[in-house]
Amino acid sequence: MVGVNDADENDELSNHSDQNPGSHLGLDPSQAARRKADPVETARANRTWWDLEADGYYAEHGSFLGDDDFVWGPEGLRETDAGLLGDVRGRELLEIGAGAAQCSRYAARKGARVVATDISGGMLRQGASLNGPFTAATGLTVPLVQCDATSLPFADCSFDTVFTSYGAVPFVADSAALMAQAARVLRPGGRFVFSTTHPIRWALPDDPGYPGLTVTSSYFDRTPYVEQESGATTYVEHHRTLGDRVRELTAAGLCLVDLVEPEWQQENQQVWGGWSPLRGNLIPGTAIFVCVKAAR
Ligand SMILES: C[S@@+](CC[C@H](N)C(=O)[O-])C[C@H]1O[C@@H](n2cnc3c(N)ncnc32)[C@H](O)[C@@H]1O
Repeated sequence: MVGVNDADENDELSNHSDQNPGSHLGLDPSQAARRKADPVETARANRTWWDLEADGYYAEHGSFLGDDDFVWGPEGLRETDAGLLGDVRGRELLEIGAGAAQCSRYAARKGARVVATDISGGMLRQGASLNGPFTAATGLTVPLVQCDATSLPFADCSFDTVFTSYGAVPFVADSAALMAQAARVLRPGGRFVFSTTHPIRWALPDDPGYPGLTVTSSYFDRTPYVEQESGATTYVEHHRTLGDRVRELTAAGLCLVDLVEPEWQQENQQVWGGWSPLRGNLIPGTAIFVCVKAAR
C-alpha cells in the first residue's frame, strides 16, 4: 500500500534494518549504546571519526553533492531552487560543519565572500583538494578554517549569514552553545540557516525500507547515540525535539522565520543510508531551520 518501489527493491531495502541513528554513515550497530556523552567526549570522538571517514564519505556521496553545488539534504533540494539564504551577492558568509565546503564554493560563485569551517582536518583536506581546481577555473577563493562550531574564532557581528547543510548540529552535545555562537557572530538582521536530520527520525529505525516506517523508540528520549570500540568512544549523535530546537534558537536571540521540510525530488532515486524514495515520499527526513537575528 505504501510502496513506491518494486518488490525486489523492497526486499533489498529490508535487509538494511537496524535501530541505529548513525547507520547512514556506515557505523556498526553492534558497538552502539544509548548513554550520556559530554561535549569534550563528543567533540573528540566526532573529530576523529570524520578525519578517518573523510575519503570514504566523499567517494560515496561526492558526485551527489557536486564540487561547488549546494544540496540541503538527501531529498535533493538545492539552494538554487530553495533560495533560503536569500541574495548573497556582496555578503559575508560563514559555513559551519562545512565538510569539503561544496556549499561555500556555490555561495562564492553567487558573489558572496565566504569562510568555510569544520572541526575535522580530514574533511577540510577534501575541501582543499577541491578548492585548487575551483580557484583555477573561477579566480575565487574560499578560506578553510578548522574550528568547533560551539567555539567560533570570529569577532561578534562579523557575518551577514551563517549556514550549514547537515554539518555540526547533530554532532554537538551542547547545541544551545552552537546556536549562541551562530547568533554572536551574526550582524543584527543576519540569517542563520541550517539543515539537520528531521527530529521525527529519532523514533524510527534508520532503515530505508519498510522497517524504517515503524516507531521503535521514543521521540522524547534525548539520550545520545554512542559508538565505541575497545572502550573508546568513536562516534556520537545527539537528538533534540522540534520544541527543543525552537527554545534553543529563541534563547540565543534568533527568531525562527521558516521551517522547511523538503519533499523527496521525484527524479532522485538514490538511497542514502536511511533516506530513500520509499520513506521520503511518506515522512520528512530533513528539517531546515531559517532564523533571523533581531535587528537592533
Ligand atoms: C554530514 S557532514 C556534512 C558536511 C557537508 N555539509 C556535506 O554535506 O558534505 C557533517 C560535518 O560536520 C562536521 N562536524 C562535526 N562536529 C562538528 C563540530 N563540533 N564543529 C564543527 N563541525 C563539526 C564534521 O566534521 C563533518 O564535516
